[in-house]
Amino acid sequence: MSASDRPGKPTKPSWPVVEQRQVVRRSGRARRVTPDERSAEEERRKAERRSPDDRRDESAWEPVPLDGTLPDVGDAAEGLIAVAMTARQFAQARYSQFKVGAALETAEGTVVTGCNIENATYGLTLCAERVALVKALSEGHSVFTRIAVVADTDALTPPCGPCRQLLWEYCGDLEIVLANLAGATARYRLSALLPMPFDARLLG
Ligand code: THU
Repeated sequence: MSASDRPGKPTKPSWPVVEQRQVVRRSGRARRVTPDERSAEEERRKAERRSPDDRRDESAWEPVPLDGTLPDVGDAAEGLIAVAMTARQFAQARYSQFKVGAALETAEGTVVTGCNIENATYGLTLCAERVALVKALSEGHSVFTRIAVVADTDALTPPCGPCRQLLWEYCGDLEIVLANLAGATARYRLSALLPMPFDARLLG
């Protein structure tokens, strides 16, 4: 990835529009949604989910091949995955028992590792990806090519929402390599995991 691929100042983003609704302003107070309209909307949402608690769109989890031909990670990422796996062993995950390791590769080929670091307040937990990122930034690295994330889950563990946001800010459209301990792997572009990012371009 070149520096020019990273989110920068000059161009205003323009997202593909999936659905646009015209806001019709009426004079006076806004009309209240009727109980019938509300339950019809609830029914519509329910029908889209497998259970009332399930808000996932599983199709969004399909790996997106980076070059249109390579659905698999391939040998090139094996080293990076191995480094993330080792970093995972240092995870401080005594509250969740959910250990995650990350390995962030820089454009010069340096690999900076991270693991999740939890603490008794829970909320101050640091994810493995963020630890790797802040370590790398604080050591002067500024252009990144890939990050590998390893966890012990059957379904591969992707970066959480806040980590996606931070990775986008500092790494641009990074390649995300996911792996588990059983050897399953997949790779995504960050733009596929964070399709409509908020970033500096919107700040004008
Ligand atoms: N975690 C990560 O480190 N990275 C992820 O991508 C997902 C979640 C950590 C945070 C917390 O320590 C534990 O996993 C459970 O959420």
